[in-house]
Amino acid sequence: MKLSARDEWLAELMDDPDCDPERLRRTLERFGAVNRLVSGWGAVYRTRLRPLLADLPRPARVLDIGCGGGDVLRRLARLAARDGLAIEGLGIDPDSRALAVAERAAPAPGVAFMRATSTELVAAGERFDAVISNHLLHHLDDDAFATVIADSETLATRLCLHSDIARSRAAYLAFAVGITPLAPGSLLRVDGLRSIRRSYTPEELAGRLPARWRVERPAAFRLLAVRGA
Ligand SMILES: C[S@@+](CC[C@H](N)C(=O)[O-])C[C@H]1O[C@@H](n2cnc3c(N)ncnc32)[C@H](O)[C@@H]1O
Repeated sequence: MKLSARDEWLAELMDDPDCDPERLRRTLERFGAVNRLVSGWGAVYRTRLRPLLADLPRPARVLDIGCGGGDVLRRLARLAARDGLAIEGLGIDPDSRALAVAERAAPAPGVAFMRATSTELVAAGERFDAVISNHLLHHLDDDAFATVIADSETLATRLCLHSDIARSRAAYLAFAVGITPLAPGSLLRVDGLRSIRRSYTPEELAGRLPARWRVERPAAFRLLAVRGA
């Protein structure tokens, strides 16, 4: 497998409106388990979000763009609640199939979901203390990437955190082996490996972001695009 260049033309099965709905549902439902294993949001919560939440005299408004099944936002709300902090979380996704899974899952305190784009929220004059995403950036073509970044800057008053995979051969091999127990009956194996091939190296991502952003490595095989505090 050649991973030296980003495979930006490779489509993921979940983006096909006609993909198998049962496999897609299982994929979205299992993102929670996958994200807990690979995404590093526990560390990002402790180092980035908790200080922001603790600093505010009210529940922080947190927007998750491309929330999928919504597990990242639910997890952040539960972590915050455990620390005696509160968030008012909104997860948005343009795909109604993802929203259906997000809305069926066990609710978390202060978290709601809505079918919307970030551009619609900008037009509505919405503002959030923090704007986050997980596994969104690698999904986007050039125009959509620029739009999401520009919208994030407008929507966030304090902090933007876009988390994604760092493309590498080691990440590819680790995922190919590690996903085995969760993959049956889902799109996780094919789309996960395609996601890695579509994802960025730190240098590539830094090169695509405006100068006011920086790229960090919060965990193994991870990238975090950060703007703000
Ligand atoms: C790989 S999934 C990640 C879902 C979720 N964030 C997670 O980590 O489990 C990518 C999600 O981005 C959504 N998406 C695709 N293009 C988007 C865009 N331009 N703006 C917002 N969300 C988008 C898709 O519908 C899909 O639910």
